[in-house]
Amino acid sequence: MSRTTLPAWRALAALAPQHAAHRAPHGFLVSGAGLTLDLSRQYLGAGVLRPLEQLAVECAVAQRRDALLRGEPINVTENRAVLHALLRSGAAAPLAGVEGSAEVAAELDALRDLTDRIRGGRLRGLAGRPFTDVVAIGIGGSSLGPQLAVQALPKTGPRLHFVSNIDGAALEDTLAPLDAATTLFLVISKTFTTEETLTNARSAQAWLHARLGPDPVDAHFVAITARPAAVAASPVKAGQVLRFWDWVGGRYSLWSTVGLPIALSAGMAAFEDMLAGARAMDMHFRDAPFAGNLPMLLAAAGVWNRTFLGMPGLAVLPYAHRLARLPAYLQQLEMESNGKRVDLEGRALDYETCPLLFGEPGTDGQHSFHQWLHQGTSRAAHELIVVARPMSALGEHHDKLLANALAQADAFWLGRDNPDGHRHYPGGRPVSLITLPALDAFHFGALIALYEHKVFTQGVLWNINSFDQMGVELGKQLATSLAAAVRGEAAPPDHLAAYLSALRAMHVR
Ligand code: F6P
Repeated sequence: MSRTTLPAWRALAALAPQHAAHRAPHGFLVSGAGLTLDLSRQYLGAGVLRPLEQLAVECAVAQRRDALLRGEPINVTENRAVLHALLRSGAAAPLAGVEGSAEVAAELDALRDLTDRIRGGRLRGLAGRPFTDVVAIGIGGSSLGPQLAVQALPKTGPRLHFVSNIDGAALEDTLAPLDAATTLFLVISKTFTTEETLTNARSAQAWLHARLGPDPVDAHFVAITARPAAVAASPVKAGQVLRFWDWVGGRYSLWSTVGLPIALSAGMAAFEDMLAGARAMDMHFRDAPFAGNLPMLLAAAGVWNRTFLGMPGLAVLPYAHRLARLPAYLQQLEMESNGKRVDLEGRALDYETCPLLFGEPGTDGQHSFHQWLHQGTSRAAHELIVVARPMSALGEHHDKLLANALAQADAFWLGRDNPDGHRHYPGGRPVSLITLPALDAFHFGALIALYEHKVFTQGVLWNINSFDQMGVELGKQLATSLAAAVRGEAAPPDHLAAYLSALRAMHVR
């Protein structure tokens, strides 16, 4: 049965045309795991909040959350559990005792040991020198989380570089300034079949051989995968292999050994603080009632804005330069999870799901696309992320940064009347304001777990499977089948013949 037949859904649909009368009260603040969520600039007056809470009840959000945290196989299309919370639950609840806990603890020990050896200069390359630079090769979930975290947290270890794109320029530009003798490569791939990652790894191996000679260069490679057998069968040999598991989704994997770049750059203590922050958010998600539950409220506001009020976009605007990669990270987390058009049974949905997510750090975005946000013909919803404690020694900068964040939030929401249409700001653009006391590992972990649970809750409200990503497969298959035609070794399909001959005429290859 479609969600649209639920009583709470109908109540919300009936309210939508009068949403402007339902502005939330000033000071609508909720807290959890050290973070604060300010929903004062949302159409979440009590008249809307109550049916949203009722919708969560009718969609069994609490029961589905408990099934997630019990390790049940809630990824129905792939028949597997979704256990990223196990990776950070330690010996404590919510997932203590779930099968797999012992393996998780053992692999965390392996991660700690390897981190200590690399940071301590005991793991060395062929020339016997410690590693000064680490190049993490991976893509999607095997890159975006570590990239974000490495940039967000203090850097106390070797320099980290990330290569994801199959465009050879990405690898070449990264390697150009590096010394092969002191460069370590991490090849991160859950499946160990991803074309981009394996191609980059092979080229990295050739780069090492060209500089260090023909001896095996295994000592310069660490592989991180859920399929160790595929590493053994691969032409790129790794001196060390760390594991993770099938039941960790790629975009939920930074808490596993995929987080090695984070541990190397920020230190193992910071990595464990990050896990603790996420664990605190897991407990909050499990225990807090709807009206005080950050992930549930953020999710409900998002569904209300997107599905009932028809806002097509979600702008994520971190007012923290070290969170510059947060929009890119969330594009995968939200859009790969909830960019779906069918329900759990595969039936076409008759309502809108995940919005188009985009963003840039404030204040940069203000001088670019905020014009569209303030005065465009469509309304987007906004999530602003603010950090209370300055992130630099330049206090004056921080005060100005905070003033800009609040100014944008008010301008989006309150607008300003002007009889001159060009100067009129309609306002009424909703904002969720998320505040971290500090950009430390604990609160960073809590922030990411907040988003994971937001995405989960939205998936339940929309009745979709947030844990597969079948939409990315067609392009991979087509690219494989077109490779020979692009090389000129096979006849192209008819519809591409003219284009490919024009391409060749331009000497592009
Ligand atoms: O193509 C999508 C995807 O499967 C993502 O879900 C995943 O994070 C990424 O590719 C990388 O996959 P892997 O870790 O197996 O290389």
